[in-house]
Amino acid sequence: MSSNQDLNNSRFSQEAASWDANKKHLESVQKGFDAITRYIPDFTDGGSKNLDVLEIGCGTGLLSFLLAPHVRSLVGVDTSDGMIDAFNQKTAALPDPSQVNLAAVNVLVQSADDAHLQGACAALAERRGESGKDIPYRFDLVVSHLTLHHIPSLEDLLATLKDCLRNGGMIALTDYEDFGEEAIRFHPESKRPGVERHGIKKGEILDIIDGVGFNEVRVERAFELRKEVEGKDGESKQEMGFPFLLCLGKK
Ligand SMILES: C[S@@+](CC[C@H](N)C(=O)[O-])C[C@H]1O[C@@H](n2cnc3c(N)ncnc32)[C@H](O)[C@@H]1O
Repeated sequence: MSSNQDLNNSRFSQEAASWDANKKHLESVQKGFDAITRYIPDFTDGGSKNLDVLEIGCGTGLLSFLLAPHVRSLVGVDTSDGMIDAFNQKTAALPDPSQVNLAAVNVLVQSADDAHLQGACAALAERRGESGKDIPYRFDLVVSHLTLHHIPSLEDLLATLKDCLRNGGMIALTDYEDFGEEAIRFHPESKRPGVERHGIKKGEILDIIDGVGFNEVRVERAFELRKEVEGKDGESKQEMGFPFLLCLGKK
């Protein structure tokens, strides 16, 4: 039997080529970006250009390409070949390769010292003329959008993310909230296989972030995404609002 990870890799690789053409994907990412930049002080006090950012589940890079102009570097990781290919096609099409401050790696991050992750950081550092500084590479900010609901163990992920951060670094993770039994309708039935959980429960994620030792933990309802969902029992489609959580913590 296929694992959820296998199902996800195959589903997202199939969807990658048309991902950016879906207006709801663009809208949700824009709202995620707005929330992250509103809550992380460096984006409002002018310090964001010093940030090295890690993005978990970067997909085709919709959030990465919004963030990159505001930060020093961004490494996106994703477990779908198709998503990483789409991301790489976009970076390859940028006008000046020497100025590109973002990269994507196909890896399931289970250690801050992962060789693929370290390799991507080293390549970006070399491009900036800062090769060999600050090894092993660590980050100032970890972001993620619409990916936590695919991760089998949030405890393991959050512990790894804490290891990936420099002291004082922050996480800012957005995903839809499990606000009750209707949250399952976020995905049409055809896309539910492989989904680990139907949204994030506010109390649970707070306890997990707190439990792995983050400080200044906050989980906020940051925005709502309205989208068309399948009707129940053959009823016609309808529009529903889904609350999104922004999960914050400081190392
Ligand atoms: C719903 S998509 C969101 C993509 C992107 N963040 C966006 O909003 O456009 C979820 C992404 O998470 C990736 N993913 C799933 N499990 C993952 C894991 N354990 N580590 C990294 N990426 C993962 C999938 O391949 C997919 O690209």
